[in-house]
Amino acid sequence: MPTSTTWDPAQYHRHSDLRLRPALELFSRISAESPSLVHDIGTGGGEIARLMALRWPEANVIASDSSQEMLDAAQDTTAPETRIRWELLDLNEWQPTPTHDVIYANAVLHWLPDHAEIFPRLVDGLTTGGELAVQMPMSWWQPSHQAIRQTVAAMSTPEADQLAAFMATPNVGQPSQYYKILRPLVSDLDIWTTEYQQVLSGPDPVFDWVSGSILRPVFTQLPAPEVERFSTMCRRALRDAYPPQSDGTTLFPFKRLSIVAHQ
Ligand SMILES: C[S@@+](CC[C@H](N)C(=O)[O-])C[C@H]1O[C@@H](n2cnc3c(N)ncnc32)[C@H](O)[C@@H]1O
Repeated sequence: MPTSTTWDPAQYHRHSDLRLRPALELFSRISAESPSLVHDIGTGGGEIARLMALRWPEANVIASDSSQEMLDAAQDTTAPETRIRWELLDLNEWQPTPTHDVIYANAVLHWLPDHAEIFPRLVDGLTTGGELAVQMPMSWWQPSHQAIRQTVAAMSTPEADQLAAFMATPNVGQPSQYYKILRPLVSDLDIWTTEYQQVLSGPDPVFDWVSGSILRPVFTQLPAPEVERFSTMCRRALRDAYPPQSDGTTLFPFKRLSIVAHQ
């Protein structure tokens, strides 16, 4: 359902500090010392690709994304970094050759179904000893996403019904599922979860947060008047799910699943 045109770089980067923290924590867990080829899949703003270029000055760095909007925005803000190769690439269709010393995918794979097929395909893209580093939000179970699904279901229009079907099942599984998929394929496997107690400010901050991610398909698939109706209902539901703290901020706990696997 989400297509390359569903992304809004400006909205996504409004909470860039909080979104970057798990990306950096994952990046710090990669142990490669002198890789030849490293690839940031679903690079978004390209922050990690730029760090890759700094951390491994001898490496070829690929930064790919299926959204031309994201790639254009990423390159606009990039200092002239000639070693980064920016590529339009849809992970659904990517058949990698085993040439990558690092494949890094932060906050990307939760958009794609069928992880039992995708994870082995990514491992196939690694050199011997190469590393796969992945972080995915476990947000499907959160009150925010439950409220969004209920609001979409309450719209009762053909477009909303399609969206409801798209949102009905989580793409991200439990940690044990990834252990089962990856353990036979790799020599070393580290899986962990982290729940960040995110403190947001401003009016309707949870609505603002999800506007840069899970609501992108809603905003692009629903007709304009329906978007307005949905937004009013959804804002209210998210305010109820996350009432403000006594200091006016909003606590938005967010759980993430991270994996580093060595081929
Ligand atoms: C939530 S953003 C994360 C961006 C970046 N990795 C970060 O951590 O800030 C998800 C990114 O994945 C990209 N994406 C979504 N589906 C994709 C696919 N099938 N293939 C490649 N990239 C995809 C989106 O265009 C978007 O830039």
